Amino acid sequence: MRTDTGQVIHLADYRPTDFVLERVDLTFELDPTETKVEARLIFHRRPGADPTAAIVLDGDELTLSGLLFDQVELDPSRYDATPEGLTVRDLPESAPFELTITTIINPEANTKLMGLYRTGGIYCTQCEAEGFRRITYFPDRPDVLAPFTVNIIADKDANPLLLSNGNFLGGAGYGPGKHFAAWFDPHPKPSYLFALVAGDLGVVEDTFTTMSGREVVLKIYVEHGKEPRAAYAMDALKRSMTWDEERFGREYDLDIFMIVAVSDFNMGAMENKGLNVFNDKYVLADPEIATDADYANIEAIIAHEYFHNWTGNRITCRDWFQLCLKEGLTVYRDHEFSSDQRSRAVKRIAEVRHLKSEQFPEDGGPLAHPVRPTKYREINNFYTTTVYEKGSEVTRMIATLLGKDGFKKGMDLYFDRHDGQAVTIEDFVKCFEDASGRDLTQFSLWYHQAGTPLVTASGSYDSAAGSFTLSLEQMIPATPGQPSKEPMHIPLSLALFGENGGKIEPTSVDGAEYTGEVLHLTSRTQTAVFHGIGSRPVVSINRSFSAPINLHFDQSPADLARLARHETDHFARWQALTDLALPNLLKAARDAREGKPVVCEATFVETLIAAAADESLEPAFRAQALALPSESDIARELGGNNDPDAIHAGRQAILKQIADAGKDVFAGLYAAMTTSGDFSPDAKSAGLRALRNTALTYLSHAEETPARAKAAFDAANNMTDLSHALTILAHRFPDGAETREALATFRDRFAENALVIDKWFAIQAGIPGVKTLGRVRGLMDDPLFKRTNPNRMRALVGTFAFANPTGFGRADGEGYRFLAEQILDIDTRNPQLAARILTSMRSWRSLEPTRADHARSALIEIERATALSTDVRDIVERTLK
Ligand code: ARG
Ligand code: ZN
Repeated sequence: MRTDTGQVIHLADYRPTDFVLERVDLTFELDPTETKVEARLIFHRRPGADPTAAIVLDGDELTLSGLLFDQVELDPSRYDATPEGLTVRDLPESAPFELTITTIINPEANTKLMGLYRTGGIYCTQCEAEGFRRITYFPDRPDVLAPFTVNIIADKDANPLLLSNGNFLGGAGYGPGKHFAAWFDPHPKPSYLFALVAGDLGVVEDTFTTMSGREVVLKIYVEHGKEPRAAYAMDALKRSMTWDEERFGREYDLDIFMIVAVSDFNMGAMENKGLNVFNDKYVLADPEIATDADYANIEAIIAHEYFHNWTGNRITCRDWFQLCLKEGLTVYRDHEFSSDQRSRAVKRIAEVRHLKSEQFPEDGGPLAHPVRPTKYREINNFYTTTVYEKGSEVTRMIATLLGKDGFKKGMDLYFDRHDGQAVTIEDFVKCFEDASGRDLTQFSLWYHQAGTPLVTASGSYDSAAGSFTLSLEQMIPATPGQPSKEPMHIPLSLALFGENGGKIEPTSVDGAEYTGEVLHLTSRTQTAVFHGIGSRPVVSINRSFSAPINLHFDQSPADLARLARHETDHFARWQALTDLALPNLLKAARDAREGKPVVCEATFVETLIAAAADESLEPAFRAQALALPSESDIARELGGNNDPDAIHAGRQAILKQIADAGKDVFAGLYAAMTTSGDFSPDAKSAGLRALRNTALTYLSHAEETPARAKAAFDAANNMTDLSHALTILAHRFPDGAETREALATFRDRFAENALVIDKWFAIQAGIPGVKTLGRVRGLMDDPLFKRTNPNRMRALVGTFAFANPTGFGRADGEGYRFLAEQILDIDTRNPQLAARILTSMRSWRSLEPTRADHARSALIEIERATALSTDVRDIVERTLK
């Protein structure tokens, strides 16, 4: 294992390479433990570059076994090779030259899952961000683009399939028992988009005719026997291709598009040109194994990776600081796609829930960083929810500022101007400025200033003048390396309603730009006066979450209830319900901590139950409304000195009160929200299941017995219902006989299916309370648990650390000690995975002092370990700072 050598890399140090890479020709002779890689690279010195400069190629754990210069063996005096790099001197001043580099690598021993590795008997690669340098010495940076030819030689029986990027050139036998295939990708690409897959897999095939009439072959490769489970992914792919043509005018550009599902993968999926590699969790689905959430994720991730073909591949990042250029934009595109395929309001609610529960804690803790960072020690640690999800929100705000047409013009210009290039966020923003004429200088602070802005609002109505005055103030909290901030340009979608519902249109607004129902907050404090307001307005601010901010606006429960009933934006209705819920949940946590009885405000309970029963609202929306803010949401809102047990107890007490008050409504919903006919994963049917299952959860609180959940478990005919019933049983009645029986049944039934068993691990890892740590330790010895598999590890250890505040955060600190032990162990094999799971400690400072001390000790134990990867060292040091 490599111990930390991580230097800090600074954006300010960026400069182009001295050498231009013209062509890449790779030949792989595959072998599980000794794969021979021959890389023929043609370079020329960049005009104007230092005529004496040597070429320096990146490596990572490599050994050089041959080096030719223009086909002739190179004298050792002209080069230096180490595992981390190859330097070649005395190169021609301007003439092109060819380096032929041979390395021998061991895919079987590659447990980092970066570079070329083995999974489920096949060969596969993961090169983003810096995995290609584990295959051969190379200028492994995203601004070096070249066309690739790839030749693959392998045993024919074990590897009937030999895949790489681009179009298939041809293949043939290659000596006894072997064969070869050649691929050519005409689109110049950086090395991080390289992919190779070889082995024996089943395939689902289809075709797609593009808008200009070209036929593209589509292939999804999965383990033999699982082909039927790839049908939904194929459908999602075709819908994605159509949508990108219709919405963004983007057409696919090769003869073939392939997806390969693998079972060992560090992330969700990877957009390699023409050959996406996916975590099989995001490909395989059928009603027996996949929940509605799984279907939605598959649809979103298939779309995300496909959309990268233009936003990421055709136009890529100049350097890794620009990661949000492709990720933020592509997340925005996949959000828009899912919104168009499903319910826009419900999708927006889910996005905002996710943003608040994942990105806000990151932005408010020790790992906070700007969407476009300026330094890093380990780039793998910057595939964060800030770069992805906040990056998407920033793109969304550009669309809000420019309007639909303005945004479209800017995107068209971006595709036009930068196709084939590796560019920066500044290049991206400039396209929107040029297309719209709007100055986005201040707006760009969203890319550069970390921290979630807090906007405080207060309003007053002057009936004599018929005006409403809104005072706004923005504050951006200090974050690591950024003690003070400039005021930002915050687009607040805003509307005024009368007390009985109808919208009030102001005749004019002073003090702030207000166009298209968007109020532009641009200074630290700002006072907007709305004229022509005939009666006291109920104000709705940050509708559809137009800006990713925290908003403090003291609205009465009565006004919030009005918005929950009358807002035309359904996202804002959900927001109003959440705003009604939160003070109750915060007070409940405080009261529970002091041993006081927990009592819930009547307006809130009534409004919530009324929303649940409101048949004019979509079931999926009602399910979202009923799903109260989570324990970590409450912890975040409380802000500090947090006691997870009190938060849990308070929230459970509130759930119980809602359940008791709404028992009849929930029983009615549980009976009525049924789907008929064959299972369909469509959004509407999923919404019915979501509302029915939410009702079941409340009923289990009202009834206090596992009977109904057990009956639901026994009757379930799809994974959504089955896993929901099992979750209720395990979380509410962990020691009950029904739960034990259901867990055993589930395990027996799905023992062969690792992805489903992950749900079984995750459900148990999420059981609240001190006893879960023992259960998690026990489950690690289950023969179905595999320590080396990232999905297993995330399901069990990841769920425990990220999603079980009372179990993980038990007062004696044993949960944190367990995590430290696991992190040190995982780090010896897979640093990326270890670092990712360790980010579960990011909010440790907001714990009450005893737990915070335990958490600190666990972090220090990790920090003191002698051999740490750069990945884990980077996270642990920043977390402790
Ligand atoms: N670009 C991939 C995506 O679609 C993520 C790959 C991240 N890989 C990594 N090793 N950090 O979002
Ligand atoms: Zn991506």
